[in-house]
Order: sequence, then structure tokens, then C-alpha cells
Amino acid sequence: MPTTLIHNITTLVTNDQSLGKGALGLLQDAAVVLDGTRVAWVGPTADAPAADEAYDAEGRAAIPGFVDSHSHLLFAGDRTQEFNARMEGRPYEAGGIRTTVAATRAATDEALEANLTRYLAEALRQGTTTFETKSGYGLTTEDEARALRVAGRHTDEVTFLGAHIVSPDYADDPAAYVDLVTGEMLEACAPHARWIDVFCEKGAFDGDQARTILTAGKAKGLHPRVHANQLGHGPGVQLAVELDAASADHCTHLTDADVDALAHSETVATLLPGAEFSTRAQWPDARRLLDAGATVALSTDCNPGSSFTSSMPFCVALAVRDMGMTPDEAVWAATAGGAAALRRTDVGHLRPGARADLALLDAPSHVHLAYRPGVPLVSAVWREGTRAV
Ligand code: NIG
Ligand code: FE
Repeated sequence: MPTTLIHNITTLVTNDQSLGKGALGLLQDAAVVLDGTRVAWVGPTADAPAADEAYDAEGRAAIPGFVDSHSHLLFAGDRTQEFNARMEGRPYEAGGIRTTVAATRAATDEALEANLTRYLAEALRQGTTTFETKSGYGLTTEDEARALRVAGRHTDEVTFLGAHIVSPDYADDPAAYVDLVTGEMLEACAPHARWIDVFCEKGAFDGDQARTILTAGKAKGLHPRVHANQLGHGPGVQLAVELDAASADHCTHLTDADVDALAHSETVATLLPGAEFSTRAQWPDARRLLDAGATVALSTDCNPGSSFTSSMPFCVALAVRDMGMTPDEAVWAATAGGAAALRRTDVGHLRPGARADLALLDAPSHVHLAYRPGVPLVSAVWREGTRAV
């Protein structure tokens, strides 16, 4: 592959403090050289080495590609009616998931994959170059395993979420469903996933059930992440920390002890403002988590129920407007924070050696992602060294 010089970048976010200013490692009048799938060089345009090809950024800003560490893209069907009902005042409940389960089970493999690729393309156009996605709308051994197989054709960050809700087929016997998830279903799904997740919430799985499921997953070589404290206070965050989960996701309703546990752990607090936006719920308090010393990630939670957005720029804007984050903190959380939530060191930054994933913004700096909400600022994307948008 030829080397590519991207030069004349007005503000470059490297996320490496040794390369530039502040937590974002900001460089002005910068250039990046891509060699194959990797970043080979980063520095001032004036010092840039020669390359086989050159691309003039014409004064645009550049950021590492967004790392969306939480999505639910293996689904079929639509929940417009439920959204409308919510906007008329009905509360969001975990039970809405059942509508999507019925539609997903009825879909062909081709339809599932077509839906997935459609939303992935949408996310890429908005600068997302790494994404995680989950099963969780099949809830039978066959349907969960096929969702993971389809996901695995498009990303390495695949999460088994058989414990999204108790399958409607087991409504009268949740304990038997936990047995299925930790037995036959896990056996069939573990080879196709890197992570295991549980929706630990009233109406889904309680703390003991979640511990049983995550522990069984760990024994099969899967690493935990947890849907925790979304709809109310509960044991999810403490369990995530106890099991060294890579991430506790949502973190909307936290006690001081929850915040303290996150701050003294390697577990990232992944905040999903699209969900609070689309369910008209209280915003997660990012400021409280950051001030306590927790690592915060931002992600879309893209799913047809609680958060039907694939847009990381939208999440950045919400986090700045409503969750007490500065634009710098939000951009870090949407890139390096997402990488931390996936325990990845190759993405989320633009040090030499990083995966060559970056997005150019039609703006003089990354701050415009929040300053100009709703505007499609992403004008070019490289993913693994290849121009993708
Ligand atoms: O993360 N909280 C659980 N799961 C999803 C919602 C899924 C749905 O409503 O279909 C979430 O918000
Ligand atoms: Fe989710």
C-alpha cells in the first residue's frame, strides 16, 4: 500500500499528551502520514516527510475515528409507535424489547445483515471507525448464535447479550431461562463473541442472576460488560466493578458508592445520552464521574427502542449541553474513552503505530462538534488506512 500524507490540518486531536497540548494532545497546522493500515508519523505540516500520495485537508480539523463501544444493531422491525407513545408521556420500559425480538426472529439472515450494514454505513459517514455490537433480540440459542455470526462478519467487538430480557417463552420460569443462557446458549454463542453483557435492571435480570450469567461467561473466556443503573438504582455498577467488567454502561442512577467504585477501578463508565434523549429520562451526570476520577466513554447505544441514533457527533453535543462535559472531555470520551471501554490500545488515538482511523471535520476544530449540533461536519474518513468516506 502506498503511504499517504494528510497535511494542512488546522487542529489535530491525537489523544496523546506527549505529541501535543492538553489531554487531547492538540497539534496546530499538523500532518499525518499513513502507511498501510497504520499511522506512521504525526507532527507539524512544515516537518512532514514525503509520501507517495498527498491529501490537502485545506485547513480542516481532524480527530481519531470515533469508537462506538455500545450498540444493538442485530435487529429487525421498527418501534415508531412506541416512540410516539413515549413522546405523549408513556414511560420507557424494558418490555418494549419484546416487539423487536418477534421481528428479529422472523427476519432472514440476509435481512438482518442488510440492516446491520445499513447502520454501519450510516455510522461510518459520521466518523465511526470502530464499533461494538450485541445480540439480544433473538433470545433462543439459534437466534442469538446467528446474530453473533452475522455481527462477526463486520466487527471483532461482538457481545453476547442473551440476557437482554427473559425470553417471552420463559415468562413463567425466569430461572430456567438463566439456565439456558448459561448452558446451551452460552456454549453455542461463546465461539462467536469477545464479550458477555447482561441487562441488570428491574424488569430484566437482578444482581444474582446477572452475577451467575457473567461468571459463566467468564469461565467460557468471554469478558464482561454490564448494562447498569439505566432506569433506576441497582446492583449493576457494583457488580461490574466486582467482576472487572471493561465497562458499566448507562450509569444514569448512581449512588456516591457507585461513583467511588467506578473511580477506583479499571471499569469505564460508558454514558449513552441518546437513550436519555429518546426516553426523556434524567441525564447521566458525567461531571460527577469525571470529578471523582472515573474514566468516561460516550457511545450511541444505537437500537430501535431506547436510542435510535448512530451519530457519535450527536452524542458529543448532548454530553456537552446536558451532562456537564467540556467539548474536549466529550471528544476524548467518544474516541479514547470508547477504546478504553473495549480495552483496545490500537484505536482512539493517533500516535505512530495506531490504526490509521481518522475523520476530517468541516470545521477549524473539534469543538465545533458540540458548537454546531446537528450539522454533518464529517467530510472524509480513513479506516485502517483506506479512504472510506
Ligand atoms: O441499552 N437497556 C437495554 N437495552 C437497550 C434498549 C433496547 C430496546 O429498547 O430495544 C438499551 O437502552
Ligand atoms: Fe444498550
